[in-house]
Amino acid sequence: MAEPAASHMLDTVPPVLRDDIEEVLVDEARIQARLDELAAEIDRDYAGHDVLLIGVLKGAILLMADLTRRLTINSSIDFMAVSSYGSATSSSGTVRILKDLDAAIEGLHVLIVEDIVDSGLTLDYLMKNLRSRRPASLEVVALLTKPTRREVDIPVRYVGFEVPDVFVVGYGLDYAERYRSVRSIVTLKPEVYGG
Ligand code: PRP
Repeated sequence: MAEPAASHMLDTVPPVLRDDIEEVLVDEARIQARLDELAAEIDRDYAGHDVLLIGVLKGAILLMADLTRRLTINSSIDFMAVSSYGSATSSSGTVRILKDLDAAIEGLHVLIVEDIVDSGLTLDYLMKNLRSRRPASLEVVALLTKPTRREVDIPVRYVGFEVPDVFVVGYGLDYAERYRSVRSIVTLKPEVYGG
């Protein structure tokens, strides 16, 4: 899956971040092509229904924007902010709600939008929490999953790409709040995070 960080793939990376990148794991074109497929699948599965997309801040913002404008079914959006990582590179397992939904979801078809499922602890907590609010249905779309890191079994219905157990940033994912704007999924040089 990994490709060398060919210079043309990094053309859209802010120059100040470019030297930190080790390799491109999933380039922009592959992400966008996969989103076409996922959106078509979601359109088919929810045909005739409205869907509420719940983005999990902050990592999901790019996926939310790219996905919602591809859907032909009627969709609305809301956001939750939860925190489990701080500035570390692995999960502490502690989930806190920093921002809740603006409105009730009872009776709605809800699709949680996540950038990455790692241990699954965040989603496990979120799904239990949201299920208690009695939506008509509750599913998950995640751009990335790291199956080898899973600590709880989470049914992720729509998955963009499986990635190995390496620290990845870009397309919404950060390290210490940087790199979210990078359009591809990339790895960082170990010296960037002291690895
Ligand atoms: C990341 C990601 C998921 C969670 C996944 O969020 O967006 O919400 O971690 O990890 P898990 O499966 O091990 O629980 P993070 O806490 O880094 O916040 P952010 O999206 O604001 O960067």
